[in-house]
Order: sequence, then C-alpha cells, then structure tokens
Amino acid sequence: TDLAHIRNFCIIAHIDHGKSTLADRLLEYTGTISKRDMQAQSLDQMELEREKGITIKSQAVRMVYTALDGEVYELNLIDTPGHVDFTYEVSRSLAACEGALLVVDSTQGVEAQTLANLYLAVEADLSIIPVINKIDLPSAEPERVKQEVEDIIGLSKDECILASAKEGIGTQDILEAIVKQVPPPSGKTDSPLRALVFDSHYDAYKGVIAYVRVVDGELNEGERLSMIAAGSSADILEVGYFHPRLVSIKKLTTGEVGYIATGFKNVKDCQVGDTVTVPSALETIEPLAGYQPAKSMVFAGLYPVDSNDYPELREALDRLKLNDAALFYEPETSNALGFGFRCGFLGMLHMEIIQERLEREYNLDILATAPSVEYHVTKTGGEVIEVNNPSDMPNFGEIELIEEPYMDISIFTPSRYIGTIMDLVTSKRGLYKDLKYIEAERVLMSYEIPLAELIIDFYDQLKSRTQGYASLDYNFGSYRSSDLVKMDILVNTVPVDALSLILHRERAYYQGRAFVEKLRTLIPRQLFEVPIQAAIGSRVIARESVKAMRKDVLAKCYGGDISRKRKLLEKQKEGKKRMKMVGSVEIPQEAFMAVLSLG
Ligand code: GTP
Repeated sequence: TDLAHIRNFCIIAHIDHGKSTLADRLLEYTGTISKRDMQAQSLDQMELEREKGITIKSQAVRMVYTALDGEVYELNLIDTPGHVDFTYEVSRSLAACEGALLVVDSTQGVEAQTLANLYLAVEADLSIIPVINKIDLPSAEPERVKQEVEDIIGLSKDECILASAKEGIGTQDILEAIVKQVPPPSGKTDSPLRALVFDSHYDAYKGVIAYVRVVDGELNEGERLSMIAAGSSADILEVGYFHPRLVSIKKLTTGEVGYIATGFKNVKDCQVGDTVTVPSALETIEPLAGYQPAKSMVFAGLYPVDSNDYPELREALDRLKLNDAALFYEPETSNALGFGFRCGFLGMLHMEIIQERLEREYNLDILATAPSVEYHVTKTGGEVIEVNNPSDMPNFGEIELIEEPYMDISIFTPSRYIGTIMDLVTSKRGLYKDLKYIEAERVLMSYEIPLAELIIDFYDQLKSRTQGYASLDYNFGSYRSSDLVKMDILVNTVPVDALSLILHRERAYYQGRAFVEKLRTLIPRQLFEVPIQAAIGSRVIARESVKAMRKDVLAKCYGGDISRKRKLLEKQKEGKKRMKMVGSVEIPQEAFMAVLSLG
C-alpha cells in the first residue's frame, strides 16, 4: 500500500475504560470480523493455535476501511500492554504508530494510567484523538470529562469524540478521525530496510515471531535479515499480517506493520526495540532510536522446595527465558535454602507471572525469598558494586555509601484522601514533589519513593486507604544515597541468609522487632525451644522464641476425631511442600515473605 493510504495507531486507556471493547467495534465496523463471528472467531483462533501448535498474539491487526472520501485505507491497530511493569514495551509499540486513540471512561474521568500513557504518546510525537467512552451509561458525565481532558491533557474539548464502545456509538467518527487526523507514515521507500521490533515471542514451530513496523525500505520473504543491537542474523521464513487471522504475504512495504517468522531460537536474538535490517546495510545503517536492553528492577531468590528438582527448575527458567528477554537469572547458593537461582524481573507483576508459570506450567514447587531491589554500594576503597541480594551486602565497615533506586510516582485521588495518602507516603520514606488540583475535588499527587518501599505492600495500602478510589503510576527516577543497614536473622542461633533484609537505619529497630515477632508466629513449634534473633552487625536488636511443643499437644487437638485428624494431616502434607529445613528447624514459605506485611 502507498504511504498516503496507511494509518498506524494504537489505543491508550486506563484499565477497564473500554480499550478491548472499542477495538472489537472497529474490527467489526471495518468488516475485519463480523458481529456473528465475533465469538466463534476467537474460539477458532484457539483451535488454530492448537492445530498448528503456534501461539497467536494479535499484537497488531490490519483493517481495510473505505472512508467517506471514497478512498480505501489500510489501518493498523497496534496493541499496547496494560501494566506499568511493561512501560518500555508500551513505548516501543507507540513508536510504531503515528496516532493514538485516548479512551477515557465518561463515568470516571482521567486516571493515573491514562496520563502515564499519554505522556509516552506525546513523547513519541503521536497525534492524539480523545474518545469519551461509555456515554450510554446513566452515570456518564461527558461534559465534565471533556472539560477534564481540556484542563489536564490540554486537548480542546471540541476534539473529543463521544462514544459507546458497547453500543457502537461514534465508531464511524473515530475511523474518520483516524484517517483525517493521524498523519500517514513517512519513510524512505528506496532506502535499505529498517524495521522496528515492537514485540516478539517464541513459537516452537516457526521460531521467534517478531512484530515489526517497517520504517524504511521493504521486507521480503526468503531474504536474510540482521538485527543491529543483537548482532544476530537469520532467514526470513515468512512475513505477513493479522486480519485478525494470520495472513502470509510476499513482503511488507515502507510504513506497514506485520510479523516476521525468523527462525531464531531465542527472543534475545530479536528483542523489542531492536532494528531489523539486511546484512548488506549492517555496516552503514543508523539504528532506530530508543533501543534499551531490558533492565531488571526487582530481584528474588527462587529455590526448589525439593532440592532434587534443581535441574527441572533450571530447564524451566531456560524455557521461559526463550520467550522473555526481560527475565534474568543466575545460579545462587544459600546456606539456608541450598541451590537455586537469583532472578531479576521488570517489576512485581512480572515476578508473579513467572512464579505462577513455574508452578502451573512446569509443575514445580518453588520457595521464593522476599523481593529486593538492586543497591549501588561504594566500598571504602572506592570500588562500586551492585547488590541485589541482601545477604551479599558488605559489612558495615567496608561501606562508604549505599544508593538505592527511587521511583517517580503519581497518584490520582479524590481530595478527601490527601491526608491518609500523605501519611502512607511519608511512612514509606516518600519525598513530596507536587500536589495539583485537577478539579474541585480531585488531585494529582507526585512523590519520589524508594522502590524497596513501593514493592512492599504500598499498592494494597493505597487501595484500602482510599476504598479503591486512588490510581497509581510509577516510573524509575534515579539512584539516591540512603542510610541503610543490613539486618540478619538467626533461627536457633544459625544465621539464615535468605531472611536477611536491607532496612532504613531509622526504622530498623522497630521493623526488626516486628519482623521477629511475625516470624515467631510463622515458624511451627518444634520439640525444643527455638530462639529467633534479629541482628545488625554483631548487635542483637530483637529476640523472640518459639516455645517447644508439649508432647501431649497432638493427641489433645485431634481429640480422637479421626476425620478431622485426617484433614489436619492432609493439610500438613500440603503445608510441607513449602517448608525448608534450615539446620534443625523447618521454616515455611510465609516466613520468607513476612517482610511484605511489615508495613
Ligand atoms: P483491560 O483489558 O482490563 O485494560 O480493560 P479494557 O480497557 O480493555 O476495557 P474493556 O474493553 O474490557 O471494558 C471494560 C468493561 O467496560 C467491560 O465490562 C465492558 O463491557 C465495559 N464497557 C466498555 N465500553 C463500554 C461502553 O461504551 N458502555 C458500557 N456501558 N460499558 C462498556
């Protein structure tokens, strides 16, 4: 298709504001998928996946739209991931577009995520079309929300399109706006190939499938490709687009969006943000701007509950890594937990996804240590090291300076919660930046806050303190020096490295006591008394003990009721899965996570 008739766009929205529903309406209106087939089709898609053994992710769908001016346009809708952990992926998807529909729920208004994505879209120079959705609802306040769009976002309220994705209101207006307001792609058709990878995944049959936007030149089936950042090359086995089914074609031309089957065996050879070119141009061509290798922000130790499962855990991580360039892992040994892996994740959600997949898809019982961030430690000799496992923190005397990652956060909230949010943020060592009234009763609060505090219970507390009304967005800010100390935990006088924590000095004493108190309730009674101590350096700051089990306890609590006894035993067996023998004491998974409930 010639450039003038191509439009590449995405939809940005806060969760639940109607992104998927609107996408469905556009596909339906353009006949890409019929209303009747809507449901059947998505089922078919799954069947197709099963048949061919391929994973289909419709990251980009091509639509053909005949506009009111009589011209026929190729519209490419590029999907963007919805969670803050994946901001980099979002930024690359946006870089593949010239325009964005900004969907705002008319019963809610602008939220933190809306703004965060909007900033990314503005940075990517996209033209933005505001869509006020869900106007069919009785509680819709389109005028108020339009005004909000004008005040907060700075787009004229006259540009807003009123829509109901549910009822199909405004669909044609939206398509017309895309054709008229989103500029066509500008690229050099006769230059050597440059294409941006905005997503990729591993497919067992076709190798790595890369989703690309051709910036210059064209991509032909059967040719050879080279990746600029990865330095890898492969044959182009297949090119095509989604309609929404896979349609394979001979080539993708300048400005177009589609997929390439590369034959690469690992997504790290073809990462998001990398530039695809042809081998002959590799030496001379300028890579597309904005490539960043994935950076882990949150770390945790993952250990098999049964140490015999170590090889299986390694294999599972290897397999997951094929499809996830952002997953980092390396072998780690713990005195307490044995052989395992230190893993790095983009954020807490990414970490949960990986743990869940290891357990569900690979059937592994995993013991995870509490999440940690990466500290930059300057030693007294001047050497700077990165520490992402608290037990690796050098001794106090060897440390000149510790720096920790701070995040820039923004919170949208009704103004009645300002006080409670300030309390929360202050208790988490947040630094005040700004407070803006968006409307009479809604504010935008901005802070810098240590990531280590953000990953511990912050979001849950924010939600519960504001009855769910506040929304949160965060981004990496900078490394800042902090007065931090390492706290060691001794169970039965043996230091348990996997329980070590890095705490702020001012609160270490209080938190140490709370932590030890919590551990006392989590570590099951043994036949002997088990002391639990928290120590900073050689100084013990807190001590509790788990009382010894009385011999008759078992008999008494079962009380002869055999079914109850069986239930208890079964429960115990289940519980056993997540226990680790440390010295002569069994420590359950919950103990390693106890830090998350410190508050
Ligand atoms: P995530 O996938 O969670 O990010 O949500 P989303 O933004 O894709 O929202 P989705 O399209 O899933 O819509 C969220 C809910 O709002 C669903 O229950 C929809 O049925 C509903 N919804 C979407 N658009 C409209 C609308 O125009 N009117 C009404 N009444 N409901 C709508």
